[in-house]
Amino acid sequence: MWFDGQGHAVLGVDNNMRRDFFGEKGDTSWMLKRLKECTRRFTHVPADIRDRPAMFKLFDEWRPDLIIHCAAQPSHDLAATRPLDDFDVNALGTINLLEATRKHVPESVFIVMSTNKVYGDAPNYLPLVELETRYDYAEPEDYDGVKETLSIDQCLHSVFGASKVAADVMAQEYGRYFGLRTGVFRGGCLTGPSHSGVELHGFLNYLVKCAKAGETYTIIGYKGKQVRDQIHSYDVIQALWSFAQDPRPGEVYNLGGGRANSASVLECIGKIETLLDRKLDTRYHDQPRKGDHICYISDLTKFQTHYPAWCLSRSLDQILEELVHG
Ligand SMILES: NC(=O)c1ccc[n+]([C@@H]2O[C@H](COP(=O)([O-])OP(=O)(O)OC[C@H]3O[C@@H](n4cnc5c(N)ncnc54)[C@H](O)[C@@H]3O)[C@@H](O)[C@H]2O)c1
Repeated sequence: MWFDGQGHAVLGVDNNMRRDFFGEKGDTSWMLKRLKECTRRFTHVPADIRDRPAMFKLFDEWRPDLIIHCAAQPSHDLAATRPLDDFDVNALGTINLLEATRKHVPESVFIVMSTNKVYGDAPNYLPLVELETRYDYAEPEDYDGVKETLSIDQCLHSVFGASKVAADVMAQEYGRYFGLRTGVFRGGCLTGPSHSGVELHGFLNYLVKCAKAGETYTIIGYKGKQVRDQIHSYDVIQALWSFAQDPRPGEVYNLGGGRANSASVLECIGKIETLLDRKLDTRYHDQPRKGDHICYISDLTKFQTHYPAWCLSRSLDQILEELVHG
């Protein structure tokens, strides 16, 4: 919607596979309807990124000068039940789009949304302290969070993390080896009111949905003290647009809400309770998700150094206000 507002023609390739992955609640057709109503130059193509000939044909016909690849099987947990679909969408789908770019529009900018799960459980081995409502980093050098230099190798990723590593490294390679103008963004928690949040994916949006509907929210493991950094989709778009205007081929950036927008599950629940002026109905499941991060904050220093005009425009409190009352 933002790109359309700026006067760009936008082609949205999405086959609503989120509905297939997550059922009714993951259905994104409400958003498609809104996009069609509110935009002037948006065209939707319900194509599947796994379909290589279809992608090649599409790129040949449309010749996009910016590709923002956000299509994915995005859930850590769901991947374990559908590993082949997960790999086909995340890894194969990505190389299809990279190769379509190389073949038809090699001068174009290609951005892929990767994930902090490419670091696997390595962030859990950073020294941590347990505070009253959250875990946090124990060492001053980790205060700003995880840097892009953390190893993505020899750790537990989950099936999803591994398929995203394939996509992440392949996009880097198309930049370094083939010279394409690729950029890789490893997302923290990307959120906002436009998300079709479900239990298995889209933590904050889903938590607020449960809270508003009076449904029970299940806190899974780590006493609810696990920390995530939340970034509004608007700020994600601004970061990607900054890169697109001045790309650095093959670069990798962590992109989340950073230290300022970090909070534990318990802290998020507390903030929502204040906004709604009532207690949330929660239950606790003691077994953490396999390989789940205990404390993850994206260190934004590298991106901010390369693109100093970019900054976060939405605080966590503003994000929550919009989700709860917007
Ligand atoms: N939301 C987050 O917190 C988060 C965090 C880190 C990384 N990411 C990454 O950002 C990207 C976007 O995430 P999101 O939260 O918007 O996920 P999402 O599930 O809401 O969006 C992905 C979209 O891809 C579409 N899709 C899936 N398979 C497809 C296929 N084969 N062909 C065409 N379209 C297909 C889905 O229908 C869906 O609309 C993903 O790559 C995800 O891994 C998200």
